[in-house]
Amino acid sequence: MEASMLEETVQDPNPYPVVAELQYPDVWKLCTQARELAWDPAADIDWAALKRETAHLPAAALEAGAEWWSLRAWMEHGATPYGAERLLQAIFDHLPFEVKQHITNFIFEEMRHHEASFRIANSLAVYQPTPRSDYFKMIIPRFHNEEAERAMPFYAGMTVNTLFEYVSGELTVARMNNAAYPEIRKACELILRDEARHIHFGRILMRRFFEDLTQEEKDHLGEKFATKLRGSLLNGVYAVVNLPADERKRSAAARALAADHGLGATHPDEEVAIIVKAVQDIREIVAEHGVPIPIIPEIEGGN
Ligand SMILES: [Fe+2]
Ligand SMILES: [Fe+2]
Repeated sequence: MEASMLEETVQDPNPYPVVAELQYPDVWKLCTQARELAWDPAADIDWAALKRETAHLPAAALEAGAEWWSLRAWMEHGATPYGAERLLQAIFDHLPFEVKQHITNFIFEEMRHHEASFRIANSLAVYQPTPRSDYFKMIIPRFHNEEAERAMPFYAGMTVNTLFEYVSGELTVARMNNAAYPEIRKACELILRDEARHIHFGRILMRRFFEDLTQEEKDHLGEKFATKLRGSLLNGVYAVVNLPADERKRSAAARALAADHGLGATHPDEEVAIIVKAVQDIREIVAEHGVPIPIIPEIEGGN
């Protein structure tokens, strides 16, 4: 090869060496499970049946259900740029193959959660590609904050993300229990099965890497989690609590209408209790690793 050609092909940052040696068998196990438990949102759920079964519902309820599942679809999609950034980091930091494979699976799986969600919206009424409310138009693009991610060590940041998946998993359980239609229920079940692996990845990271963190880093991590959760609550992604008054009223009414018709939604008043319980669970889980999570006054009282 001529020297000039070589110069053109050398990239900065350099992906080499591309390490193919497995280092973390527990992470690799998640990867093989992901292969065994793969599913297809287009083929594995009978969307025509969902359309038929819900056709008799009032148009306003179907519309509310489609709005709700559109919001879910935007949130699932929001996980994909986050995953793509982590994959790039994992590649250029030469992390083990199984870590890169797990992150690739994560992106793929979040994308299929997105697909299942927009297919539900489309079966009920029409998927909304852009939020109709100005408020959500403003906050959804800010859902992923790469600067905040980069401020954390790689594995610590990924762990924080899995704690968020725990919170949203607990909310998905409640939404699955609300679902009166087998197709919505099945979609929730399959999404939760993937999420269980994502959450397990966090457990592995804590076991493997948290011993090496200093107490100062652990305190910082607990604070990061609390700050990020407060941000998510304030911007209304997880629950309608703290939305501006008019949007809160409208969103809450729509979500309640979808829940009343068993469309896999939760009543706004239930959501906060679920989040509080999930945060308490997380606090216990991470306490084992010496990470303290401060009280989150917006949902847990106190100040
Ligand atoms: Fe997801
Ligand atoms: Fe996930």
